[in-house]
Amino acid sequence: MNELSHIDNETYRVAMGRLLVMYTQVDHLIMRACAERIATAPNDNIRIKLGKQVGDESKHVRIQHEWMHRFGTDMTPVFSEQQQAMFLAHFRSLSWLDFLTDMYVCVEALGSEAVEQIVPLADPGTRESLKTPLEDEIDHVEFGLSQLAIELSGLPEHQRMEYLRNIPSRLDSLKNALHGFGVDIPAMFAAVGVDYSQVVGKVLERREEILQSLALPQAA
Ligand SMILES: [Fe+2]
Ligand SMILES: [Fe+2]
Repeated sequence: MNELSHIDNETYRVAMGRLLVMYTQVDHLIMRACAERIATAPNDNIRIKLGKQVGDESKHVRIQHEWMHRFGTDMTPVFSEQQQAMFLAHFRSLSWLDFLTDMYVCVEALGSEAVEQIVPLADPGTRESLKTPLEDEIDHVEFGLSQLAIELSGLPEHQRMEYLRNIPSRLDSLKNALHGFGVDIPAMFAAVGVDYSQVVGKVLERREEILQSLALPQAA
């Protein structure tokens, strides 16, 4: 925790605890949303990948629970039961294409990117607890983005470009929903000594990279 010498240990531990609770709740929600999708997934190959992801997310929840217990984290949820229900209802309401965008571009790819920014500044125990989850997320993102490219390739060119143009606004509405939940992410990041504007910069860079790769004809 040398990098964080300007924050006392107890303040850091409590603040990192809130981020860990949030991350674990999101993994748990991803697990449930993906489990629900198995029933209506377009094909068996996708069902198998979703099933693997459900298993991975359940493993992440277990790893994080074990770590939070050892770290002495207050497990009070960041998201209420009602907010969790809203998250699940949102993903339940989406077409397969929109599900891929919201789940894999926003939650998985950009969420992981944000978590990656915290890792170098985190204490060794927290860093270790995030290792396997973040490795698995790479696989989930790869699956989601490749499926998204397949779905987009089935659309006429103008519709595909139109869809891509609208992705940032889909991401913004998810971000606004999070703000509406009263979760102050910038404050949570600042509390563990992370420069939030830098994280946003990295996340936007990653978003651009994803959008550009989806816009390429060979991705289609
Ligand atoms: Fe996960
Ligand atoms: Fe994941």
